[in-house]
Amino acid sequence: MKILRVRRQDWARQVAEAFLERVQANPKLRVCLPSGDTPVAVYAEIASLAREKKVSLARVQVFLLDEYGGLDPDDPGRGAAMLEREFLSKLEERPAQVRLIDTESASLRAEIAALEREIGTGFDLTLLGIGLNGHLGMNEPGSAADAGVRRVDLHPASRQSSHGYGVRKTPTWGVTLGMRQLLGSNEVWLLATGAKKAQIVRQALEGPLTPDNPASLLQPHPNCTVFLDEDAAALLARDEPP
Ligand code: PGA
Repeated sequence: MKILRVRRQDWARQVAEAFLERVQANPKLRVCLPSGDTPVAVYAEIASLAREKKVSLARVQVFLLDEYGGLDPDDPGRGAAMLEREFLSKLEERPAQVRLIDTESASLRAEIAALEREIGTGFDLTLLGIGLNGHLGMNEPGSAADAGVRRVDLHPASRQSSHGYGVRKTPTWGVTLGMRQLLGSNEVWLLATGAKKAQIVRQALEGPLTPDNPASLLQPHPNCTVFLDEDAAALLARDEPP
């Protein structure tokens, strides 16, 4: 794992610059993107840097990491709504393919099978936030490294945190891409900012490798970069130069 500690004011720009480098190297990048608060500043930076540097995202293929189930189609807290609001709507050129997750499909089983098929073994690049319980997407504690795309019941903490995303009613379940698809990606970036993430970041990066903390399962990944601001990195024992 490569752990980068970045000054708060530079953090989003650094992630965005790295993202656009990947797009320039591979304009058809297949990328898995999360919703949530952490990537909001990154998405805004990607949009403005892409305009500035004239990098086109038109051929990028985007897959949404997870989606709540049981919410109204226009609920502003849905993952699709957040991705649209914070990222896609800000882009000059929208990616050719944006694969959302249809949790309201008449056949969830068919939707899950289709996602498994379309994703294959993983992505070129996967961006992830980390939950306060170590979850990745909706891979809650207890998720095995080989867990695939599936319907999941949300951990009480995740039900609670959905309110921060403006949901109109509390979701109890969702569909998430699995640890298998995330760990199978060529490259994974774990993003975390702020003091409230410091403890779980320390456990994920320096604690035991265990499904009890799904983010810890990233430790052996051959190409995982962790982008932390100073506050999220504050409890790490490992002393690496910035
Ligand atoms: P956040 O959520 O980016 O809103 O902090 C991360 C997560 O719970 O996965």
